[in-house]
Amino acid sequence: MSKPRILVTRRWPATVEAVLAERFDVTFNPDDIPLGENELRLALSTYDAVLPTVSDRLPAAVFDGLPVVTKILGNFGVGYNHIDIAAAKERGIAVTNTPGVLTDCTADIAMLLLLSVARRGGEGERQLRAGEWKGWCPTHMVGTKVTGKTVGIIGFGRIGKAFAQRCHYGFGMDVVFFNRSPIDPAEAARYGARQLPTMEAVLAVADFVSLHCPGGAENRHLMNAARLAAMKPGAFLINTARGDVVDEAALIAALKAGTIRGAGLDVYEAEPDVPETLRRMENVMVLPHLGSATEETRTAMGMKVVDNVTAFFEGRDVPDRVV
Ligand code: DGY
Repeated sequence: MSKPRILVTRRWPATVEAVLAERFDVTFNPDDIPLGENELRLALSTYDAVLPTVSDRLPAAVFDGLPVVTKILGNFGVGYNHIDIAAAKERGIAVTNTPGVLTDCTADIAMLLLLSVARRGGEGERQLRAGEWKGWCPTHMVGTKVTGKTVGIIGFGRIGKAFAQRCHYGFGMDVVFFNRSPIDPAEAARYGARQLPTMEAVLAVADFVSLHCPGGAENRHLMNAARLAAMKPGAFLINTARGDVVDEAALIAALKAGTIRGAGLDVYEAEPDVPETLRRMENVMVLPHLGSATEETRTAMGMKVVDNVTAFFEGRDVPDRVV
């Protein structure tokens, strides 16, 4: 039997590409740049499987009126808000993702952002590199202490829990969270956290608010002007979830007005475009979507896609099937 034809939209870790090449008739995008709408449409009517990433936009329009050949979209990533899941389902295309393997690394990046904004790490590094450091003195670049402060987590899934654990057990922080469904208090306590009944209750008490919910229509602009205004005066916002969870214009307004003290961001509304105002603000730490960016994690993500797609074509249960 001939091997399934597979398109990989970006370059992956070499070890994973080697496994893909062994198992499938695989084509890699040689340019390693995001595919446009027409290229994705062509892919969906050519390949048995397409393996996209967060940089490939697959809205309903991409699937419209196509003679679809693709049977599975094996997404390289846990978040899949860049794919119109309903449209894929309607065309009979399975979608899979890569949960679990990027939990620790994403929680680490949230911690890195929290510590950086609290202790002014980015600002300090920029000052030193610019040759502007005048030496130690008691009032130089003082930040805010983390130990004993309250962190408020929005979304208590795998990454929210791993972040809670780091904050509480690693840094002696008080951890509260909001989650749409109730979490067993004993389970929350294992991560050193307790659930509050509303998002507003979390925003009112947290010195740091960290977002760990999915992106997409359901949570679009969850952090809007009203919710930013509901944050404790002088608090910090951390976002390693998805850019569209925050109304970026409202965030810039809150930062300019000084109602919140700073922000640590790894994701943006129109990636890779990041508003210049945000890039210029000293109290904002900006990272280029690094949450899962470690050798170990990117390899594990790739191998998860391989396992999902292999199981699909062998007619076995697909481990991480979204639809
Ligand atoms: C994820 O897995 O969702 C990461 O953000 C990369 O897409």
